[in-house]
Amino acid sequence: MTVGVKPPSWTEKAGLSTGYVNYEDSISPQFYELEREAVFKRAWLNVGRVEQLPRKGSYITKEIEVAKTSIIVVRGTDGIVRAFHNVCRHRGNKILWDHTPQDDSAGFCRQFMCKYHGWRYGLDGQLNFVLQEDEFFDMDKSSLGLVPVHCEVWEGFIFVNLAETPSQTLSDFLGPMMKGLEGYPFGLMTERYGFKANINSNWKLFLDAFQEYYHAPVLHSQQQVSSLRSYETAFKLPYVTTSGPHRAVSTGGFKGVPRHLTPLDQMYPIEQVTEAGLMGPWHRPDHPELQPENLPPGRNPGGIDPWSITNFQIFPNFVILVYDRGWYLTYNYWPTSVNTHVWEMNYYFPAARTVSERIQHEVTATVSKDAALQDAATLDGTQRGLESGVVSSFPLSDQEVTVRHFHSTIAEWVDLYRGERARTGGIA
Ligand code: FES
Ligand SMILES: [Fe+2]
Repeated sequence: MTVGVKPPSWTEKAGLSTGYVNYEDSISPQFYELEREAVFKRAWLNVGRVEQLPRKGSYITKEIEVAKTSIIVVRGTDGIVRAFHNVCRHRGNKILWDHTPQDDSAGFCRQFMCKYHGWRYGLDGQLNFVLQEDEFFDMDKSSLGLVPVHCEVWEGFIFVNLAETPSQTLSDFLGPMMKGLEGYPFGLMTERYGFKANINSNWKLFLDAFQEYYHAPVLHSQQQVSSLRSYETAFKLPYVTTSGPHRAVSTGGFKGVPRHLTPLDQMYPIEQVTEAGLMGPWHRPDHPELQPENLPPGRNPGGIDPWSITNFQIFPNFVILVYDRGWYLTYNYWPTSVNTHVWEMNYYFPAARTVSERIQHEVTATVSKDAALQDAATLDGTQRGLESGVVSSFPLSDQEVTVRHFHSTIAEWVDLYRGERARTGGIA
């Protein structure tokens, strides 16, 4: 037996300190106010997918409470996707909403009309009509268009940036790690199942819960660990990498389909019957675009074999999980206060071609949602524990390197903002 030198930890490889971590960033109202400016008004934020805007005039609105604004995203008559603040230039009314002004909405129109005094705007944001225009004084309609928001599309994912002048293009912001995923057939996966929940915790605590697998054998013991477990690595991370503010974690998987498992290894008998479960349908669909030889290697950046999922954590609040079995899942975390947030989860599959494929998708979404709710169930307990202030710093293992990287990146962005404010005479 040879005694080797212990390889460097993931934490050391990521250039992070190994000290205890302070969670003030998740309980301090002052820190939350800084995050609004330093993070959410500066980073590129994912607000949807191009499939939500299928034709000219299709729009969605997105409430971004942490930035105290609402955004309209619309496909123009020229086919280009643009974004605007959802604020009328007359007297500030919110222009588009359905049931209540607090909720996101979606629809189709040829122009936007304010519900208050009927001003109308084109899909390009230009102000086209003012009721009793000759009653106004020295009004220049051409300068009263909707206020634009920077908007770019990457691989069908729509991002906005609320800065007046973003410091980076979306492509530069996403960097080399996400570049490795370009060409993945996201556009093929048009069957979507969406869930949304109001969560009683700081938004970062839920991100943390989904970016480490240290908790899996305990919190998800109901799954008998089979699906979440990496057999080869016994819950140790096979691969993790950081790329600027972003991270990716890959987990190992099975060779072939999990036929060797007993019914006890799954959460519900329906998984055996339908051949679908937490990790998706047991068989990859036969679309040529989804066969491994046609997929970008960046989906499994560590080259793990067998491989099951890569969890791409795109700073600050967006996650894409790409599954070996030919589907993907996204999470978006939208802060609403220091200790509450709205969480969105979306499952994307290639459109079902048979009834059994459709059932497999529904079983996947349902079983996986149950596991996600197990994660969600810990969160207000964690928030309360942190807010008690009894303990102020916490040890994180090497398995939680992504958590450490995330909180240290948030601190960097907030420190940068504070420094700039101090130099320009602000009070942050
Ligand atoms: S506030 Fe919109 S038309 Fe008056
Ligand atoms: Fe979990």
